[in-house]
Amino acid sequence: MTSPISPSTLRRLEKAARTAARSAYAPYSQFQVGAAVLTGSDKIFSGANVENASYGLCNCAERTAIFAAVAAGERKVQAVVVYTPTATPTAPCGACRQVINEFGPDATVISCCDGAARIETTLKRLLPEAFGPANLA
Ligand code: THU
Repeated sequence: MTSPISPSTLRRLEKAARTAARSAYAPYSQFQVGAAVLTGSDKIFSGANVENASYGLCNCAERTAIFAAVAAGERKVQAVVVYTPTATPTAPCGACRQVINEFGPDATVISCCDGAARIETTLKRLLPEAFGPANLA
């Protein structure tokens, strides 16, 4: 699938996601995840998963990155890149798909890893018929 994001921007996003994974706080799952988002103003924000002894409070890397962007004033997500240090790529969980939809219903979503496999898709494919802001308008 062809991404509307330029190859050089994708490389920067992937690098940011890989770097962010090193900051993952994942003492319970040992599953480190890094994410990077490209915002409407072409800025990159990154984040890692942050776990908690109260397991239900664990926050995924995608949401950490998106919340950092939104807290900095950004309101649009053009692309999300997820990196896991695994042999196969990891697609965003259901909760993160819903959060991506809030700010990036048209976002490109890419998952990369240490293996050659890669998932390049869109939020619309990952979360068809999404519930979103328009439902409350
Ligand atoms: N996790 C993410 O950060 N992103 C994903 O896309 C899948 C799961 C985290 C949550 C938790 O800290 C750990 O991975 C295991 O589920």
